[in-house]
Amino acid sequence: MRSLLPVFASLLLGAWGARADRYHPRDAAGRAAAINRAETSSAFWTSEAQEAIDERLKRTESVKKARNVVMFLGDGMSVPTLAAARTLLGQRQGVTGEESKMYFETFPTVGMAKTYCVNAQIADSACTATAYLCGVKTNSGVIGVNANVRRNDCAASTDSGTHLRSIAEWALDDGRDAGVVTTTRITHASPAGVFAKVANRTWEFNAQVEEHGYDTERCPDIALQLIHKHPGNKLKVILGGGRRNFLPNDVRDEEGSRGSRTDNRHLINEWKQDKLDRGVTHEYIWNRDQLMQANNSLPDYLLGLFESSHMQYHLESNLETEPTLAEMTEVAIRSLSRNENGFFLFVEGGRIDHAHHDNLVHLSLDETLEMDAAVARAAELLSEDDSLIVVTADHAHVMAFNGYSLRGNDILGPSRDLDDHGMPYMTLSYTNGPGFRSHVNGIRPNVTAENGYSNGALAWESHVDVPLDSETHGGDDVAVFARGPHHSMFTGLYEQSQLPHLMAYAACMGPGRHACTSAAAVPVPVAFFTLFVLLTSLFIQ
Ligand SMILES: *[C@@H]1O[C@H](CO)[C@@H](O)[C@H](O)[C@H]1NC(C)=O
Ligand SMILES: *[C@@H]1O[C@H](CO)[C@@H](O)[C@H](O)[C@H]1NC(C)=O
Ligand SMILES: *[C@@H]1O[C@H](CO)[C@@H](O)[C@H](O)[C@H]1NC(C)=O
Ligand SMILES: [Zn+2]
Repeated sequence: MRSLLPVFASLLLGAWGARADRYHPRDAAGRAAAINRAETSSAFWTSEAQEAIDERLKRTESVKKARNVVMFLGDGMSVPTLAAARTLLGQRQGVTGEESKMYFETFPTVGMAKTYCVNAQIADSACTATAYLCGVKTNSGVIGVNANVRRNDCAASTDSGTHLRSIAEWALDDGRDAGVVTTTRITHASPAGVFAKVANRTWEFNAQVEEHGYDTERCPDIALQLIHKHPGNKLKVILGGGRRNFLPNDVRDEEGSRGSRTDNRHLINEWKQDKLDRGVTHEYIWNRDQLMQANNSLPDYLLGLFESSHMQYHLESNLETEPTLAEMTEVAIRSLSRNENGFFLFVEGGRIDHAHHDNLVHLSLDETLEMDAAVARAAELLSEDDSLIVVTADHAHVMAFNGYSLRGNDILGPSRDLDDHGMPYMTLSYTNGPGFRSHVNGIRPNVTAENGYSNGALAWESHVDVPLDSETHGGDDVAVFARGPHHSMFTGLYEQSQLPHLMAYAACMGPGRHACTSAAAVPVPVAFFTLFVLLTSLFIQ
């Protein structure tokens, strides 16, 4: 039944004429909903449900040890973002969209994670990275240290008792390999959770630490930690943006941008030297062609920095020079798969968050779909039998999916509804952020009459209620999707800091309980004792 949907949809498109798009919205009142005839029959929904039951009954769950673990993190990928992105995905394929699913939405287990931090009701990406990578909740703005460290407290962070170990370190200790891939600067909060211990997330390069009068010997910046400290210097694959934090400020990078370091250190050269000293093959790359070449002959260690700062939004990027998240993910997996013991890989779709902060909803949804494509690529390359894939977000945003639009309404267009003054409003609008427009005589302006809207400009900001330079995060729970060994451990509602413990359980590594020991068999002394009790009770009777 499901596979016929596109057919019905195209029939319906014929009837509906050229599908309305965001640039030429149709008159809402005159428009009929894009009804799929099959859906008017009760049998359609009953058989849809029965098929879903069959599918669940056929499902198996590998109880093997998860040799490989890939964690995908959509930064700021709230639950409404998922619903809107899947609708956009469907609409791009010419169907109504609401019924579509992103690839990772087909995973067998879905759970919910609570995102608050030790001192914050609404989280930032630093305390959450610490939670979902190191397994401990902490203070907003700090990474890889526990809540005894206040933000900016260099002294407190030098106490190794506050330091946390990430799941990448657990994997390395177990003889596996580890890697990190992101679309942001590699020194940004989420990827830094893999390798850094720092009292202020903005300490990405030396001057940010020194600005507070602190010494980078005591409190090393995040870039320095990646190149010289454990576990950063053991990561086999490092792919993302952020070149400038590794270069002196009088050096221009391959694309002409200046470095940001004021300590005259060229950390990319230092990385190369470190690998030379250790006698391992290595390659530093900065564009897509080089990534494709590296894919053909993989070095032991690969460092790819594709932009001076964050990588470009996929819809705005030059696809010739800049790799996609799916391409980076594929090369990372092919590289790490060479270790028979397995690996841990962290992949971040980091700019879903940035676009939301700027109220650029089209870009945010597209970045979400780009991450979905990366998940699909990973799932193709890795067996469900021995590789665990977990997809989640760090925190929510305040984008609302609102109004009473008809089925199939352009997800990037206005609601069918009008406000109390008859003015249109967008189906995807924000509570706050830079997209505020002043009201005239108490009446909102008509945003659909703006040039940016009618041109479909990617830089067009959806409207907001509260004016703010940057839209804020949201305090809602985030979804967790899991596929592979022990995926059902990820069901339910739980603290975000449980995530690395659950992954480590499935992979049988790190501290705490492991699936391999607890699920394999009852421990021998317990079994023996039980037998003993059974036998004695028989004798006593
Ligand atoms: C963190 O460091 C940045 C850069 O030095 C600084 O602007 C910011 O105020 C610091 N945060 C706090 C809470 O002190
Ligand atoms: C990497 O190489 C493999 C094997 O040769 C090939 O199948 C794959 O398409 C390549 N990946 C990319 C992103 O080019
Ligand atoms: C808002 O602008 C659109 C596009 O120009 C126009 O079709 C619509 O009539 C306007 N509505 C109001 C209430 O001004
Ligand atoms: Zn953010």
